[in-house]
Amino acid sequence: MSSIRVDTSGVEIGTQLTVKWLGKPVFIRRRTAEEIEAARAVTMDELTIDQTSQNKNNFDADASDENRALSEDGEWLVMIGVCTHLGCVPIGDGAGDYGGWFCPCHGSHYDTSGRIRKGPAPLNLLIPVAAFEGDELILG
Ligand code: FES
Repeated sequence: MSSIRVDTSGVEIGTQLTVKWLGKPVFIRRRTAEEIEAARAVTMDELTIDQTSQNKNNFDADASDENRALSEDGEWLVMIGVCTHLGCVPIGDGAGDYGGWFCPCHGSHYDTSGRIRKGPAPLNLLIPVAAFEGDELILG
């Protein structure tokens, strides 16, 4: 597996950097306090479609936001930007009914933690192996 390093020092709070890795978009979002709060207020029984973290760094965990965010403070969320239905690229920046991402192909709504909340997608947005080294994000 080929790793890449991404400089995240220019990513402002409330914005998202998209990079290509292994032929797929990867969303690197630096979330606002409101996005983190919204993600952390969701209880497991509200996650009626997928209750697993889908996080390669924390695979057996449940889908609570703490198990999906890459940094302990919740600011960084890194996900493969491919809808788990049929592979379109979801729109970000607060899109959809849950303020996260929305896939326009068949109407899948993901929340601010990238968890599927409504629509045909069967899984939360997948989280790749990733780690920070200072301001550099290492994917893979
Ligand atoms: Fe995203 Fe179908 S590919 S909803």
